[in-house]
Amino acid sequence: MDLSPLFPSNAVIVNATDEMWETPVHTEEERLIQGSIKKRQRQFRAGRNAAHAALEQLDAPDGPLLRGEDRQPIWPRGYVGSISHCDDSCVAVCAVEGEIISLGIDVEPLKPLKPKIARYIDTEDEKTFMQRHQDLPRRLIFSAKESLYKCYYPLVGRFFGFQSVTLDVDISRQRFQFRPTAACKIDFPHHLKFHGGYLIAEEHLYTGCFLTPGTPVAVQSR
Ligand SMILES: CC(C)(COP(=O)(O)OP(=O)(O)OC[C@H]1O[C@@H](n2cnc3c(N)ncnc32)[C@H](O)[C@@H]1OP(=O)(O)O)[C@@H](O)C(=O)NCCC(=O)NCCS
Repeated sequence: MDLSPLFPSNAVIVNATDEMWETPVHTEEERLIQGSIKKRQRQFRAGRNAAHAALEQLDAPDGPLLRGEDRQPIWPRGYVGSISHCDDSCVAVCAVEGEIISLGIDVEPLKPLKPKIARYIDTEDEKTFMQRHQDLPRRLIFSAKESLYKCYYPLVGRFFGFQSVTLDVDISRQRFQFRPTAACKIDFPHHLKFHGGYLIAEEHLYTGCFLTPGTPVAVQSR
């Protein structure tokens, strides 16, 4: 799947190859999944191998990508990135920090969420919007919020819940913006411009977010 419409042309996106799911990573990275179930080990390896491949294309120094206290990958100094995996797809996106301040990516199967989870994700505005657009992937709001979280986490440094923001989706352009809700306890950096988009493939939904310093950068045309 060509995910380039989601990000500026200076970001490198890697879809994990079959080999990446199986190939062990750096010893220090392998230590992070010691004792994990096989499925988790495969997803972790796919994500780390895809991220290493993206960083290599950006001439980043090779080295283990460890993780911080909230599970966030620790990128080499001067680089930003994001990883996502589901059962049968894994993607990583990386860029040199500068024109792009932060990135977030998410992949989801084109299946509805379990109702007991779904009810905590969408705000009232989003529920109304999704009811009006039954043809959209049921996980759209969930996925967009997951990638938004990954994108903002390095800047805000803390967990924030799904009811913190409400999304405004532009179906014609497959893009989205967000508004903090009354429940929001996060001080989103106002000096940065947020860009959000989604792509629907045969079996998956992909969402991507990035932040730029103020003025928009050119996003590759679809
Ligand atoms: C962190 C979270 C987004 C990860 O999602 P997931 O369903 O486990 O799965 P994904 O495969 O899409 O993403 C996992 C990857 O996200 C990355 N990640 C995890 N925590 C992260 C964080 N705090 N910041 C940035 N990236 C993070 C990691 O690379 C992880 O893969 P790895 O453990 O193999 O390195 C999710 O578990 C979570 O906590 N969500 C609640 C927070 C949220 O989304 N709030 C809504 C805001 S509006």
